[in-house]
Amino acid sequence: MKHPYKLLIVVGLLMLTALIFSACTAPPPPPAAGEGEAASSEAAAPAEASTELNVLCTPQVEWCEGMKAEFEKSHPDITVNFVRMSSGESLTRLRNEKDNPQFDIWWGGPIDSFIAAGQEGLLEAYDSPNMANIKNPDLMLDPDKQWAGVYVGSLGFATNKNWLDEHPGVEPPRSWDDLLKPEFKGQLMVAHPSSSGTSYTALCTILQVKGEEEGWKFLKDYAGQVLQFTKSGSAPGRFVGQGEAAVGVVFSHDIVKNIEDGMPLVLTFPEEGTGYEIGGMGIIKGAAHPDAAQKWFDWALEPSTQELGPKYGAYQAPTVNGAEPFMPELLEVNLIDYDFDWCGTHKKEFVDRFTNEIATAENLKQ
Ligand code: F6P
Repeated sequence: MKHPYKLLIVVGLLMLTALIFSACTAPPPPPAAGEGEAASSEAAAPAEASTELNVLCTPQVEWCEGMKAEFEKSHPDITVNFVRMSSGESLTRLRNEKDNPQFDIWWGGPIDSFIAAGQEGLLEAYDSPNMANIKNPDLMLDPDKQWAGVYVGSLGFATNKNWLDEHPGVEPPRSWDDLLKPEFKGQLMVAHPSSSGTSYTALCTILQVKGEEEGWKFLKDYAGQVLQFTKSGSAPGRFVGQGEAAVGVVFSHDIVKNIEDGMPLVLTFPEEGTGYEIGGMGIIKGAAHPDAAQKWFDWALEPSTQELGPKYGAYQAPTVNGAEPFMPELLEVNLIDYDFDWCGTHKKEFVDRFTNEIATAENLKQ
């Protein structure tokens, strides 16, 4: 080797460069004692967990109260505030609050409204690990994960037994056409489809059972039989039970609850086919407490949560594996192949048409 010093100089220079470079990029020196703990835990800590959750709750109040209590029991750090509101009212509220949402999660009410809400950008997608529990994801889970199904229920007719006794020869309705019989003129009670998801399910069922053209004609005659439209979907069961009218169109699980409460009602189904709901749940876009909303979402898809309904007078069937329906017979009726996508996508159009051409939404009975 002719110039061994040259090699040493080159190696030396390289090492010096590396040293300088590493000094420039080295992590900052450890902070002084005391200052260190605070600074490092501040950097590592996740955003603070929410201690509040605002739920927009569409099923009956008793179940909403029960769900609040059960969730708070399993999540003691979170306080749940809920407001009970019918499906159509909820959708309107979410539209109005789009830029300043007051709710974190919407729980309950037929998915037609959740499909509409998702299409209007009101819901936040969430990929819950518990979606894997859902029995029939094709039907009960939004492909974009903006909502998930939490219960299932069929539509039925509630007829007052005392009224039947007073009208010998009159049978409770067993088809949609029976609702148009002269004896039921002014004796029918249903909610208005603009406020109620139950009533919208009935409207969209009729359009599917009869076809659109016939269906709209039928809806006009059906509305002509109505004594008074109510705001909430389950209210007609109560009013018919109290003898204010003869027949109500209500979800069958709500009629069962009314019977259990001692009301003199007979439950029947339209034999040519009845509609059904999948009750939905979705996180509100822009929610102030998205972490708590996700906890509720996960919790609501656990089998043990879905078996809580009957404890609070709610007999809808669960949507997750591992949870058994309390009253399977309510779904063992002739259910139509209800097209949730079609009904959800056309919800605004159909409700507007009903309201403008058939029956206004003024003076609805509470
Ligand atoms: O009372 C419970 C219930 O019938 C639910 O099964 C349903 O999703 C909800 O009420 C619909 O309420 P509304 O018709 O008032 O929108």
